Amino acid sequence: MATVSLFGDRQHACAYLQYRPVPHEMVHTIMNYVKERMPFPLELAVDVGCGSGQGTVLLAPHFTRVVGTDISPAQLENARLNQQPPNVTYSLAPSDALPLDDESVDLVTAMSAAHWFHPEHFLEEVHRVLRPGGCVALFSYPIEMDVEYGDSSLTHLCQEFYSAVSAFRHPRIGTKSVDIYKKMFLSCPYQDKEWQDTLPARRTLSVKAFIEMLKTFSTFQQMQLKDPEQAKLICSNLKTKLLSSMQVCTTETKVTVTVKYFYWLACKPKQ
Ligand SMILES: C[S@@+](CC[C@H](N)C(=O)[O-])C[C@H]1O[C@@H](n2cnc3c(N)ncnc32)[C@H](O)[C@@H]1O
Repeated sequence: MATVSLFGDRQHACAYLQYRPVPHEMVHTIMNYVKERMPFPLELAVDVGCGSGQGTVLLAPHFTRVVGTDISPAQLENARLNQQPPNVTYSLAPSDALPLDDESVDLVTAMSAAHWFHPEHFLEEVHRVLRPGGCVALFSYPIEMDVEYGDSSLTHLCQEFYSAVSAFRHPRIGTKSVDIYKKMFLSCPYQDKEWQDTLPARRTLSVKAFIEMLKTFSTFQQMQLKDPEQAKLICSNLKTKLLSSMQVCTTETKVTVTVKYFYWLACKPKQ
C-alpha cells in the first residue's frame, strides 16, 4: 500500500491551518481518558499526521514533550511558523517509522489523519512506541457538517456540494472514512478500548470561512485539480443558496456549524 501525498501544496497547507476546526473537545476527551489510566507527570506524546499542528499544540500543557510527525514538508513548515509552545517539536516521518524509541511514548494521537495510513503497519508502530499502560487515540470527522442560521437548519442546502465532492474521494478512503477507523478499532488487540460514533462540536463562523473550510477537504482539492470549473461552480452555488436562504448579502454573516467527530481510544496493557 503506497503512501498517499495529498497535502504537499503550500497554499493548501496555509488554508488548512486557517480554516480547519481546532479539536478542543476531542483533546479534552482524550486527556480525560488518559488521566484515568496513567499516573502523572506524563512525559511524551506523539501526534502522527500532525499537519499544521493545530491539534498537536493542544497536547502541550499535559506533557513534558510533544512531537508532531508528518510526511508533508509544507504542512510541517506551517506548523513551525505557527506560534509554538517550547515543548513541541516537529519531525518529517511516515506513520510506520516514527523517530521514537521502543516503549517511550505515553500517548499516540492521529487527528483526522489515520485514514491515510497503512492500518496494520501503523498499529504495529503504535504498539512499538507505546510504553506499557500508554494510550492511543484516533479521531476524524466527515465533510457532511450541519449548518444552522438562528433556528433554521441550512444543512439541506449543502447536500449538492457534499454529493458533488464525494465523487472525488481517494480510492484509499472508500465511501466513508469512518469504516476505516472502525476496522482499525476492531483489529486493535488491546482489551481496554472504546469506540464513539459521534461527538458533536459546534463552531460559529462566517459563511466565507465555512466554504473555505469545505475547500480544504482532499475531495474538493481533487475536484479542483480535475475539474476546476465544476469546483468553482459548486462553491458559488453553495454561497448563493446559503445567502439567499438567510436573506443576507454578505458572506461575513455568521452561521453555526456542527462538526461530527468519531473516535476510538485504547490503552496498551501494563504487562
Ligand atoms: C487531513 S490532514 C490532518 C492534519 C492534522 N492532524 C489536523 O488535524 O488538522 C492529514 C495529514 O496526514 C498526513 N499524512 C498522510 N499520510 C501520512 C503518512 N503515511 N504518514 C504521516 N503523515 C501522513 C498529511 O500530510 C496531512 O498533513
